[in-house]
Amino acid sequence: MKATNLFRFALLAINVIYGTAQNSSQLFDHYWLVQVWPHGYCLERDCARRSDIFILHGLWPVTAGGKTLEGDKINKTTHNKILKSLKRDKSLEADLMKYWLSLSTVNKNYIAGFWIHEWEKHGSSRKGMDPLDYFQRAVELAKTTDLRNTLAEKGVLPNGASYPKFNYMKAIMAKTGHLPMLRCVKKDGYNHLKEVIICVGVQANNFRSCNYGVGSPRCKGDNIKFPEPTDE
Ligand SMILES: *[C@@H]1O[C@H](CO)[C@@H](O)[C@H](O)[C@H]1NC(C)=O
Ligand SMILES: *[C@@H]1O[C@H](CO)[C@@H](O)[C@H](O)[C@H]1NC(C)=O
Repeated sequence: MKATNLFRFALLAINVIYGTAQNSSQLFDHYWLVQVWPHGYCLERDCARRSDIFILHGLWPVTAGGKTLEGDKINKTTHNKILKSLKRDKSLEADLMKYWLSLSTVNKNYIAGFWIHEWEKHGSSRKGMDPLDYFQRAVELAKTTDLRNTLAEKGVLPNGASYPKFNYMKAIMAKTGHLPMLRCVKKDGYNHLKEVIICVGVQANNFRSCNYGVGSPRCKGDNIKFPEPTDE
């Protein structure tokens, strides 16, 4: 698949807004586990489908200051090799279809292209990590954080209501031990929850604090609406 197609269909490839490391001496420090609430995300984009759970945008290696690190370009051979090994792992593929689904397309090939795009763009900057390992860890982290239930346990429900920003933060902190970062869509004068970013340690198997920029200029204000699932 051509890179341009990947960009078109990899709905969530909006990484550029988070900035990209310019300086090669800025080293890997931890990961961002980035998860999307589809019903917020789709307020500002055309979506081919929705999902009623939080889904992965990606697992991004970042510097100590929270700048994303660029992965290595991969060639067609490598792309196909990764795809082939992925197709052999049926349980991983099924998990990815649930937790790391692309909202912009229902085409299965493009969805697989999106995972490999995320590996190429982000994951591969972690030297020595195997792509399937990377996908597996991202899925495990998504399952562990279980964001929709984690929020519901503290009374933060996707019913279209507004909740204090700190209620979201506290609910997630009860699960991970650390405050997350939140991203919103601003619409009709309200913040709507779009994305939750959780900082993850170097082995991609534990949580740690994001000790910079907690909160976010994109969720300015004290309250955030939690958009309700729709049938669209
Ligand atoms: C890159 O980062 C290092 C360490 O932070 C700094 O000393 C150096 O000046 C930076 N180089 C550029 C070109 O920004
Ligand atoms: C593709 O990339 C791999 C890994 O970097 C390399 O070993 C291989 O030679 C490349 N193949 C082609 C056809 O360029």
